Amino acid sequence: MLKRAGTGLSFTVNGEAVALDIPPMTRLADALRDELGLTGTKIGCNAGDCGACTVLIDGRQACSCLVPVGQAVGHEIVTVEGLAEDGALSALQRAFHQHGAAQCGICTPGMLMAASELLAETPKPTRTQVEDAMGGVLCRCTGYVKIVDAVTDFAKARDDETGKGWVGARLKRVDGIPKLTGAEKFGADHAPDGSLWLRIIRSPHARARFEIGDTEEFRRRHGLALVLTADDVPANNFGIYPSGKDQPVLAISEAQYRGDAVMALVGARAIVEAIVEADLPIKWEPIAPVTFADAQTESARALHNHAPDNVLVRGRVVKGNVDKAFAEAAVTAEVSTESGFVEHAYIEPEAGFAQRIGDRLEIVACTQCPTMDRDEIAHIMRMEKSAVRVIPTATGGGFGGKLDLSVQPLVALAAWMLQKPVRCIYSRPESMMATTKRHPSQIRARAAADAKGRLVAFDFAGDFDTGAYASWGPTVANRVPVHATGPYHVPHVRALSRALHTNNPPSGAFRGFGVPQAALAHEALMDQLADKLGMDRLEFRLLNAIRAGEATATGQVLNSSAGLAACLEALRDDWREALARRVTEGPLRRGVGIACMWYGIGNTSLPNPSTMRVGLRPDGRLMLYNGAADIGQGSNTIMIQIAAEALGVGVEYFDYVMGDTDLTEDAGKTSASRQTYVSGRAAELAARALRAEILKRSNAGEDSTIALSNGRVTLRDSAGE
Ligand code: FES
Repeated sequence: MLKRAGTGLSFTVNGEAVALDIPPMTRLADALRDELGLTGTKIGCNAGDCGACTVLIDGRQACSCLVPVGQAVGHEIVTVEGLAEDGALSALQRAFHQHGAAQCGICTPGMLMAASELLAETPKPTRTQVEDAMGGVLCRCTGYVKIVDAVTDFAKARDDETGKGWVGARLKRVDGIPKLTGAEKFGADHAPDGSLWLRIIRSPHARARFEIGDTEEFRRRHGLALVLTADDVPANNFGIYPSGKDQPVLAISEAQYRGDAVMALVGARAIVEAIVEADLPIKWEPIAPVTFADAQTESARALHNHAPDNVLVRGRVVKGNVDKAFAEAAVTAEVSTESGFVEHAYIEPEAGFAQRIGDRLEIVACTQCPTMDRDEIAHIMRMEKSAVRVIPTATGGGFGGKLDLSVQPLVALAAWMLQKPVRCIYSRPESMMATTKRHPSQIRARAAADAKGRLVAFDFAGDFDTGAYASWGPTVANRVPVHATGPYHVPHVRALSRALHTNNPPSGAFRGFGVPQAALAHEALMDQLADKLGMDRLEFRLLNAIRAGEATATGQVLNSSAGLAACLEALRDDWREALARRVTEGPLRRGVGIACMWYGIGNTSLPNPSTMRVGLRPDGRLMLYNGAADIGQGSNTIMIQIAAEALGVGVEYFDYVMGDTDLTEDAGKTSASRQTYVSGRAAELAARALRAEILKRSNAGEDSTIALSNGRVTLRDSAGE
């Protein structure tokens, strides 16, 4: 609902006149979201870099986070909420829907606005024109192809869904429309009226002792509702691994990384945001941090009692006689690789709120793992799991970074203590400073082949900087040795890894859990061996590609399939063509490379369960209770496709609940590419069980078809009766 009252700053939003009595330097993005409730305009960086807040000002795209609202006076603003025509999706929105151009959806409003400007002037743009016009809006999910397809094809968007929408059918995302209209609620988009704001105070030092002074005097002086320190946290430790709950919600006397949370301020937004660092009642005493290099020595100070040598965990896979195989090999190669931190850079910073409802806590936040969050919060609050409810918001990308708790424990604690709703939104710098990263690595590896080019041995040792706390370090250290050889058959293997604690930010889950770092090493070795043998690099890989029936380094036999050889054969012609186009001399050169990688789907060193429930409601509609968080990968849609096929009905009969821990069972975390396979199987089994029950109660044969209409279930046997 737009606010037209006020005598101050007048402009037009989506065709309606508004007048706001707010400071003219307020960011237009904040005015749209906070004053006018138009949360379809997203804030990703608040610095003009990501483009998520793009709106049209007099038909021109602009980052609304960079525009003072005073500059909007007298101008026409259009946001994503203004695109729909007569309540129906515009042609451009329909094209996005048709092409699956919105995945997590956090960038989608910005994309739509940028495309709108282009299409107003250039109704039939080329791909290059689309890429140029939309280059200011970043997407971390799609790879842009579907977005560009949608814009170039927008006038031709058509509904080509077919059949019952089962697996393999072309089907629009079941959660797609709100992402296109701006109605979707991400973590920062909503909170109960009267919510207080929580700001986390973090260590500015990689390692420092600290003392906190009189927090009550500080609280009163600033008019804060609450100041939280470690003393307030009922169980001040969390972490994924039961044996490794080593991360405090608020640090106790010593901060372990730059960004470690030490205190939290709760109160009115303007008050918590205005407090400057120099006013905080904290005294810091910086001390020398443990670096990655330090942690590799035996004399470095231990960060945690459970890891006196700073080794969080070791991984080890050994098969055959590696030393003998190297001694007898025709050729050998050796590499050392190093890689650094990588930030996930999802467009949506962490955000959410909590509220106390009687003796229960409700946490609404972006996440990749609602049930794990519930269990962790119950542990921190010393409450029964049944007293905690987690409701995931839409999540604007995660890529592993939202597997760890962020805002949840502190908003939960503050809401519990104050008996008022409390919200927290990380700024972009805070998100980058405080959350997990890809593990930096130092790898030494060698490989050996016989004279015919067959790999005979592989020897790998990798150290991974797991930072101040465990997070997903054990997964990385255990997953890497399993994958260290790459997707090749190698008879003799030794692969060792260590996850080392340092005073760097915690390293955690990030697409591949360490396997991409290992791939740098094994692919450099494949190139070297091929060159030494005078073999083509693709043919060398093809010769050694692991095939169905062969065993991996762990002894697992790939019984069903192994697709690398077929993939390389399919690439062969393109590879040769690319080689022919190399330019190897002169100032401008063109290179060509080939690399292969594999990645096991599902949890590592952890159980891998999932439970799904499917029910038939009295009104004849089906309900899928789906605990798998959809963070843009599409599990909301595929679960329904799988369940519909198993039940034998069309997808249109399904409704669903996603991730609410009061209503859904534990489907595990959304990571490791596991939901389609693991939770998808659970959805299939649940739907099959429901089908069997319906047939049993109807005394119908197994080959009967089920039809749903107008609250009735009709069964037909193979004779059509
Ligand atoms: Fe673009 Fe997720 S769909 S960032």
